[in-house]
Amino acid sequence: MGPQTHNSTFEIVIAQRREEADGIISLELMAPDGSPVPPFEAGSHIDLHLGDALVRQYSLCGNPRDLSCYRLGVLLEPQSRGGSKAAHEQLRIGARARISLPRNNFRLVEGAAHSILMAGGIGITPMLSMAWRLAELDVSFDLHYCTRSLTRTAFRHLLAQYPYAGHVTLYLDDDPQARKLDCARQLGEPEPGKHLYVCGPGGFMSYVINAAERLGWAAQNVHREYFSSTVDLSGDGFCVRAARSGIEVTVPPARSIAAVLMENGVNVPLSCESGVCGTCLTRVLEGTPDHRDMYQTDDERSSNTQMTLCCSRSRTPRLVLDI
Ligand code: FES
Repeated sequence: MGPQTHNSTFEIVIAQRREEADGIISLELMAPDGSPVPPFEAGSHIDLHLGDALVRQYSLCGNPRDLSCYRLGVLLEPQSRGGSKAAHEQLRIGARARISLPRNNFRLVEGAAHSILMAGGIGITPMLSMAWRLAELDVSFDLHYCTRSLTRTAFRHLLAQYPYAGHVTLYLDDDPQARKLDCARQLGEPEPGKHLYVCGPGGFMSYVINAAERLGWAAQNVHREYFSSTVDLSGDGFCVRAARSGIEVTVPPARSIAAVLMENGVNVPLSCESGVCGTCLTRVLEGTPDHRDMYQTDDERSSNTQMTLCCSRSRTPRLVLDI
């Protein structure tokens, strides 16, 4: 029997929990009756509901062929707005939680001639499922994994045992003897069949993506997955007309469009609240957004047809939104 879903979420039980590295736990999420979990593609994530409207996205890091459970890695973030702290505190073995069906914003191009996976810290999680898939396809790929130190390197024991261990190179910031990541060398000249995947902290991602741009890589060959980031709500106030709801509000500095609309009775779907997941993406009917999300591509942002209401602002005195 498959999972019972309502509001597109279903219940899971924490079947396994391990301390993977300093501040990082891994979890195995099973259907309560032990039936297989719904299938997922490499690079997918789930929304984990942690109570009191706290929803966070976590990448699935297991083998997409293995549907006995979903595997996650959860970093306890010092700046946690509650999500990772709640996950570390609540998700003990035997605990139950609700999750969404897997979604994929970070797809593998399976016909690529060569794939380069660049992971910084906890950004390793989606790369693990991708590496499983690439190994299964028996195609050319490298996984570069950069962390601060050995004690902060999650999944390193497992990685050494995985069938794709030979594709993995580890880089440690604090070890003068360790190999240093030479991005330009590892990326090499752009080629139409070569694809790059990047996931990790903001600084790491900019470093890798800037290197690819300097080398002339085409945007469509560079794939990125951001995880939660700090939201910058600075800037002047502006007006927002919610066309479908028929109301107009003023969004003051330091408040999000979503927060002000919800206060005025407009239902804004939210999840990450940091411009990463795309849940609050809304069509723009008039005005020019000041995009502050990391979900849309550069081309999507410059088309100004949609915007994220949890973090983005306005370049014009008024915006009209299809909500
Ligand atoms: Fe995730 Fe806005 S809620 S991008």
